[in-house]
Amino acid sequence: MNFQFTEEHLNVQQAARDFAQTELLPGVIERDEHQKFPMEQMLKLGELGFLGMMVDPKYGGSGMDSVSYVLAMEEFSKIDASASVVVSVNNSLVCWGLETFANEEQKQKYLVPMASGKCWGAFLLSEPEAGSDATSQRTTAEDKGDYYLLNGTKNWITNGSTAKYYIVIAQTDVEKKHKGINAFIVEKDSPGIVVGNKENKLGIRGSDTHSIMFTDVKVPKENRIGEDGFGFKFAMKTLAGGRIGIASQALGIASGAYELALAYSKQRKAFGTEIMNHQAIQFKLADMATNIEAARLLCLKAAYLKDSHGDYALASSMAKLYASQVAMDTTIEAVQIHGGYGFVKEYHVERLMRDAKITQIYEGTSEVQKIVISREILK
Ligand code: CAA
Repeated sequence: MNFQFTEEHLNVQQAARDFAQTELLPGVIERDEHQKFPMEQMLKLGELGFLGMMVDPKYGGSGMDSVSYVLAMEEFSKIDASASVVVSVNNSLVCWGLETFANEEQKQKYLVPMASGKCWGAFLLSEPEAGSDATSQRTTAEDKGDYYLLNGTKNWITNGSTAKYYIVIAQTDVEKKHKGINAFIVEKDSPGIVVGNKENKLGIRGSDTHSIMFTDVKVPKENRIGEDGFGFKFAMKTLAGGRIGIASQALGIASGAYELALAYSKQRKAFGTEIMNHQAIQFKLADMATNIEAARLLCLKAAYLKDSHGDYALASSMAKLYASQVAMDTTIEAVQIHGGYGFVKEYHVERLMRDAKITQIYEGTSEVQKIVISREILK
């Protein structure tokens, strides 16, 4: 056992922390209020190599490990979860799936630009009637010989309007159920694609969430990822890594709220002393610090298993289940410690509380994580 980070890990963590303070913090309240996508910030993150962090440099990535990814995700998410979800989706749901399962031609054409941060992608699995029950895909991809014809609607798509490329999961053969599902790389500008209005959300309001409609969209045969019928396994394997990203996002939201509450408790006075001297506050801070440390260890363990090519589906679901609960609990208590100030926007903790909720929903609800965990421990 070794709990030491390498010098490279610490450098990545510091670079992410600096970026969050200098580039994400200014304007974060306004972006949240006006639902403004952090475009300028994402382009800079792309230039710095954070959008393809774990991709091999020969495909335009930064060649870092998953532990570095957890550390960077935590730092970005302390400040701006609307920005960090873009980092997570592009790294885990888009680039990882392409690097692991796409062929060389697909990698050159699509992975290289997205891993090098010139543009980013989106992962289109959820549908109006297929959220947790992901095998019930209604979007169809009809085999027409040298192309597939895509029809259907996808919901809750992160990066829906700003992505250049979509990874679309669709049903090719209904009879075969999940074994008839495929994954495709689809260029967003293809004729027949309509991007719906931006969703007006409780949290991560800067992030770019849309429904996407496909009407007779022609997708070249060579854009299918893997063998015919591989799409559902592709989605599940990809999400196992994605959940490390969202767990780390939840960890960052929690630790951001904790740091604000800790600082506030040292300067706010009540009953003749700083509120940190009251046991009611001390116990809240003690719970927060302990829970955050446990969430961090779960995230790092999942990342370590992924880096060492172990089976990480169980660890990533545990990390996401636990860290997202810690994000909720910690942000609610951070608002409580701030009292009335916590309820107004300029103190940041109310935004973190709203942002925390989505981590219990996307990339598999907490209930889905419990399905995955119980199946793994009972097999
Ligand atoms: N790795 C490889 N294969 C896997 C797998 C994994 N981690 N998990 C499941 N599979 C395989 C199974 O082995 C099975 O294959 P076989 O029949 O060949 O054995 C197949 O997938 C079907 O699995 P299940 O029988 O377990 O399927 P199920 O219908 O019971 O569903 C589920 C399982 C875990 C609930 C799954 O549907 C699921 O994860 N649902 C949640 C989907 C989700 O996370 N959506 C998030 C949307 S993306 C998003 O939020 C992105 C964003 O924008 C932020």
